[in-house]
Amino acid sequence: MNKEKTQKNLIDERLETERLLLLPISMKYCDDIFREFTKEVTVYMYPRAAEDVSETEEFINCSIDDLKNGSSLQMIVLLKNNQEFLGCAGLHRANTKTPEFGIWLKKSAQGQDFGQETINALKKWADENLAYDYLLYPVADKNLASRKIPEALGGKIAKEYDQVGLGGNAYHCLEYRIYPVEK
Ligand SMILES: CC(C)(COP(=O)(O)OP(=O)(O)OC[C@H]1O[C@@H](n2cnc3c(N)ncnc32)[C@H](O)[C@@H]1OP(=O)(O)O)[C@@H](O)C(=O)NCCC(=O)NCCS
Repeated sequence: MNKEKTQKNLIDERLETERLLLLPISMKYCDDIFREFTKEVTVYMYPRAAEDVSETEEFINCSIDDLKNGSSLQMIVLLKNNQEFLGCAGLHRANTKTPEFGIWLKKSAQGQDFGQETINALKKWADENLAYDYLLYPVADKNLASRKIPEALGGKIAKEYDQVGLGGNAYHCLEYRIYPVEK
């Protein structure tokens, strides 16, 4: 696969890790996303939980468009052995020099290091497919489980600012930069 890939359709991407399967987002997971993307899950996130399933449908449709035009690799995270839905993760603005990670796992799937395993897979995909300067990982300073993820990849805080999420949740955001592997 060459590094022009992000100009192309990403709808057939599929990533596997030891325990996980990452598949392109699709309407099949609408009910899972609507049910699991709760106010509690989004407390340190910019997006807010959907109030109506039509908002989730709109998110999925936009994400599918972004996959098709190569601007965002928005994946569903499943447990490999039984295809249980665990959450969503993506690499946004994949067609720029500074793509940005996003991730959330349903409450019952947290605490098992699935977040690191997911982001490691997306980082590896970026190293194999993108010509980027650095990857962004914005995270609330109090979100310690999430901060461990960029730190394990050698990420360094480059910026910080106060943020108010779409749900009215205020937090102090740290922007980690993660650089490509040396070749
Ligand atoms: C962020 C998120 C994806 C991480 O999920 P996870 O993989 O389940 O994370 P874990 O709970 O397994 O913790 C990962 C690491 O952080 C550590 N950790 C977790 N909570 C911690 C705490 N309160 N204080 C210190 N360390 C903590 C764990 O010990 C683990 O460390 P290790 O890898 O050295 O063993 C998950 O918590 C989530 O979906 N949160 C809600 C949405 C969200 O905030 N997304 C991120 C936006 S930036």
